Amino acid sequence: MEALVLQEFKRSIGLYYNEKDNIGVDVVLFCFFAIQKQLNMLQKIIFATNNAHKLKEIQHLIGDHFSLQSLKDIGFEGDIPETRPTLEGNALDKARFIYDRFQQPCFADDTGLEVTALNGEPGVYSARYAGPLENFGTEDNRSKANIEKVLAKLANASDRSARFRTVIAYIDGKDEYLFEGIVNGRIIVENLGDGGFGYDPVFIPEGYDQTFAQMPLSEKNKISHRARAFAKFVEFMKHAS
Ligand code: IMP
Repeated sequence: MEALVLQEFKRSIGLYYNEKDNIGVDVVLFCFFAIQKQLNMLQKIIFATNNAHKLKEIQHLIGDHFSLQSLKDIGFEGDIPETRPTLEGNALDKARFIYDRFQQPCFADDTGLEVTALNGEPGVYSARYAGPLENFGTEDNRSKANIEKVLAKLANASDRSARFRTVIAYIDGKDEYLFEGIVNGRIIVENLGDGGFGYDPVFIPEGYDQTFAQMPLSEKNKISHRARAFAKFVEFMKHAS
């Protein structure tokens, strides 16, 4: 079959070779088909997120083990509901929502900041702890309000320990899998640093003396909750494929 395609390809580009050149061209075309085959074999997986920043970060973390498709790539526009009281429930719901519509291997993630003295709050409500987005105009303003709320609630707390936790839910069509990544740390009393996003300016990971917002992103990505959860996921995928 490939030989036929090769012949056809040569004919279509109208090239005629002597014996010697022909060998060189055959080698080039063979490589072309081999690479194309390899690309087609890369498993395509949907990442159920609308967050372009996250998609880029994750594609970087998973390297070339498989090919990620965004919701935009598959032509899905709109919001995926997040209505569960746990990170696991939300991640699973999001992955199921997309799998049910596209019947393609799919994963979703959900992250929360869990503060010990607040019994795990804001947890699953981390993004909307201070209220709905329309009250603040921008995600940045809302993040500032979220931080203020956490700091106010911790004003008299002696225990300021907290952790970020990410849960990934993956559906391959037969089974559902969960992967968890945690980074422990503490909440400081004021904002430090202007990198990162969300609660980064008030969170210092264990073993460090800088907030996530003060660290270079490459440093945060080595130890973050998300990086840890995705490292487990990628390890699983390497053995599954
Ligand atoms: P998501 O599930 O990744 O969308 O995260 C939910 C919320 O958790 C975000 O809106 C942020 O407020 C917070 N969050 C998640 N990951 C991080 C992080 O790496 N640093 C700081 N805050 C985060």
